[in-house]
Amino acid sequence: MATTSKAAPAKAAAKTTVKKATKSAGNITPSEFHEFFIDELKDIYWAEKHLVKALPKMKKAATSPELAAAFEKHTQETQTHIDTLEQVFALLDEKAAAKKCDAMAGLLEEATGIIEDTDSGTMIRDAGLILAAQKVEHYEIATYGTLKVFAENLDRADVAELLGQTLENEKATDVALTEIAVNAINAEAAAE
Ligand SMILES: [Fe+2]
Ligand SMILES: [Fe+2]
Repeated sequence: MATTSKAAPAKAAAKTTVKKATKSAGNITPSEFHEFFIDELKDIYWAEKHLVKALPKMKKAATSPELAAAFEKHTQETQTHIDTLEQVFALLDEKAAAKKCDAMAGLLEEATGIIEDTDSGTMIRDAGLILAAQKVEHYEIATYGTLKVFAENLDRADVAELLGQTLENEKATDVALTEIAVNAINAEAAAE
């Protein structure tokens, strides 16, 4: 017992020294945290690649021209998010690879369910589409916000800057969707 408790702090101290040495050598050996960061980038890469295919379907299902235009705009922006992630992978000397994002798969399934459960040409459907789209945007905001901080923790200001650009666009999209809901959709949906 006594031996174990004495040995443990020594081991921990040795581990810290190794990590510090790695960092001062310019992150040559990828840390576990770096690997975890790459894994999460692959997750959001999968999410964006599937979202870019789902948004045109949401545009087609939309009733109001304002919402259709917003989905059209965000399809193009989502393609930019994919390109930005590819830039990030290149900066990190990693191959751009997608890893299934269960959260986005579920959110897109929910969007499909809303389209199936509502009648075309109604504002109720548009209200539902906005609900589904805002859930997606909030998921993206949470993800990019965290990944930007991770990049900063890894001393990658270049990567943090790129992730921050996408983060700001996701936030602006969320605000734009709220404005469309308030100005063009919700009152009519309530009256249907
Ligand atoms: Fe995105
Ligand atoms: Fe988005």
